Amino acid sequence: MPYHLSDEQEIVRSSIREFAEAEVKPLAATLDREHRPPLETLPKLAEMGILGMTIPAEYGGSATDYLSFVIAIEELARVCATTSVIVDVHGGLACANIVRWGNEEQKQKYLPGMASGDIIGSFCLTEPSAGSDAGALKTKAVKDGDSYVLNGQKIFITNAGFAKVFCVLARTSDEGGTRGISAFLVDRGTPGFAIGDPERKMGIRGSSTCALQFSDCRVPASALLGNEGDGFKVAMSGLDGGRTGIAAQALGIAQGAFEEMVDYAKQRVQFGKPIAEQQAIQWMIADSATEIAAGRSLVYEAADLEDRHLPFSQQASMAKLYCGPLATRVTHRAVQVHGGNGYIEGYPVERMYRDSRITEIYEGTSEIQRMVISRLVLRK
Ligand code: CAA
Repeated sequence: MPYHLSDEQEIVRSSIREFAEAEVKPLAATLDREHRPPLETLPKLAEMGILGMTIPAEYGGSATDYLSFVIAIEELARVCATTSVIVDVHGGLACANIVRWGNEEQKQKYLPGMASGDIIGSFCLTEPSAGSDAGALKTKAVKDGDSYVLNGQKIFITNAGFAKVFCVLARTSDEGGTRGISAFLVDRGTPGFAIGDPERKMGIRGSSTCALQFSDCRVPASALLGNEGDGFKVAMSGLDGGRTGIAAQALGIAQGAFEEMVDYAKQRVQFGKPIAEQQAIQWMIADSATEIAAGRSLVYEAADLEDRHLPFSQQASMAKLYCGPLATRVTHRAVQVHGGNGYIEGYPVERMYRDSRITEIYEGTSEIQRMVISRLVLRK
């Protein structure tokens, strides 16, 4: 392990690996085939303390450090990418935003339920004409007495099918771009708030990705998260942690595919010997082992900086920029080593190959990560 983990962090890894092998892995292929979320796993994730890892103990959370949280994401992704992204968006974006920006009333209202799994959280930034250019969002929230009235549309919202609280970014003033945006906590079932059908996706098929429609949706002024106009900072600061989590997800997918590749190479016999004895296969194994170790260092460094309350936007983007393509490279090799079998549904590497692709896209594409990194480097 390149990073020295504490005894507590090692225990987190081994207990979550054991849990993931017993409770998460057996469902992974079914969730993928049926495009359905692992609703039966959510109470178990809560019982393990995984849903409350980013929540302080006083609100019922398990209050681990962020490095432990990303280790949990990595271990879940090693066996089921779907389950890992549900936890990343809930813990790394929704819970973390409420912890960072919420007032006492909001923390009391949401966090205990989010730790216990009664309330799953979601984060709603993307719109049809505001993807990479997040500051172009058009959803409006107009103040009317002691409430705000929301109108607009969101797309690609993770966890939307079963989440109960949605952190929604909306424009509260006519200032253009990233200014004049505010964040709101909107409850499922609020009149005027409709959730579309889940998208049929290439991978992470169980995570429930839907469009949202706000039509004269009235929320109380107390739903405002942070101050009016803070919304873009709420979104960006949340994404620093979220991107570290997605990098950990990509790392976990790569690790899972790597283990499948090695096992298969040792038992598959061609030309009278296991294919692991062929140099062509050995090089794929060597490259993958090296790149996974490098990716792990980047992910853990970003999480460690967050734990030490140091700036980590650059390291979060570097971890995501490296680990997204790492996951697609390693899963590509794993399919290659499996030959025709790797192309057949039922072999985990077929699913992992599809699951990996989104890690180069969501929570900021690789191109956006390069933009963030280069701006921070040039500013120094
Ligand atoms: N923390 C706090 N504040 C930040 C910040 C950070 N990490 N990054 C930027 N800001 C602040 C800036 O300081 C600036 O504040 P001032 O106006 O006071 O100076 C403000 O935000 C605007 O920043 P920029 O000038 O950098 O904004 P920009 O318009 O040039 O774009 C961007 C920035 C990085 C391109 C941004 O638009 C971006 O990240 N785009 C990608 C969007 C994205 O990641 N979407 C993911 C959707 S969520 C998702 O995918 C979840 C899921 O389902 C899994």
